[in-house]
Amino acid sequence: MPGVEGRREGHHPGAKAFHWITALAVLGLLGVGLWMTGLPLGLLKFKVYGWHKWIGLVVLVLTVARLWWRWRHPPPALPGALPGWERRAAHAAHWTLFFLLLAMPISGWLMNSAAGVGLYWFGYVPIPDLVPPDPDLFETLRTVHRVLSRLLMAVVALHIGAVVYHDVLRRDGIFRRMWLSGER
Ligand code: HEM
Ligand code: HEM
Repeated sequence: MPGVEGRREGHHPGAKAFHWITALAVLGLLGVGLWMTGLPLGLLKFKVYGWHKWIGLVVLVLTVARLWWRWRHPPPALPGALPGWERRAAHAAHWTLFFLLLAMPISGWLMNSAAGVGLYWFGYVPIPDLVPPDPDLFETLRTVHRVLSRLLMAVVALHIGAVVYHDVLRRDGIFRRMWLSGER
């Protein structure tokens, strides 16, 4: 067991599992979200919307669990050589991502509630409505969900760009800290 908690070089395997499962789900949700809204009304659209909502709620549960887990297992400190502005940028980007990982599914859940269409998680677990049906509120929440999704796309692009910059140009091992086979 290398290092003191929070001081090791790489991320904890638990943090890696949360990160990569969430990243896969979110990249999928963003792509499917963009595609599904253009589908013609029909069974395919109905099914894809269902899966989008179910996986979106999985991300909500994973993120709440992840934040609790992260509080119990603080991530390793950033490499000492990193300039102050890069540290601040990394923290700001990561906390914006955490905020959006909560705000995206909650805005979707609120939107679904305002639409009054009901929701059974994976077809079985009844999900309570957060607000009563309200067409105006539904339209507002639909816009909120779309605008937040664009912000999420921008921050994820920035995040991936930053990782590539660190790995290719700076070679400071930032990617290896999070990659599955990287050191702990
Ligand atoms: C991390 C979680 C989520 C992400 C990244 C995400 C992403 C997206 C994106 C990119 C769109 C397309 C927006 C557009 O271009 O108009 C969308 C639409 C939609 N999302 Fe999500 N979503 C998430 C969670 C949820 C959840 C939990 C629900 C409901 C319980 C939901 C319900 C919807 C619905 C109903 C639409 C279609 C809105 C329309 O027809 O205009 N989403 N989502
Ligand atoms: C191919 C895509 C991605 C790559 C290569 C990647 C890579 C990384 C790396 C290397 C770190 C660790 C940085 C460090 O050690 O300080 C990290 C952290 C993080 N990533 Fe990603 N990431 C990707 C996609 C995503 C996505 C889609 C999300 C969520 C929307 C996300 C959210 C986060 C968060 C919140 C952290 C901070 C973790 C913490 O402090 O506990 N990442 N990512």
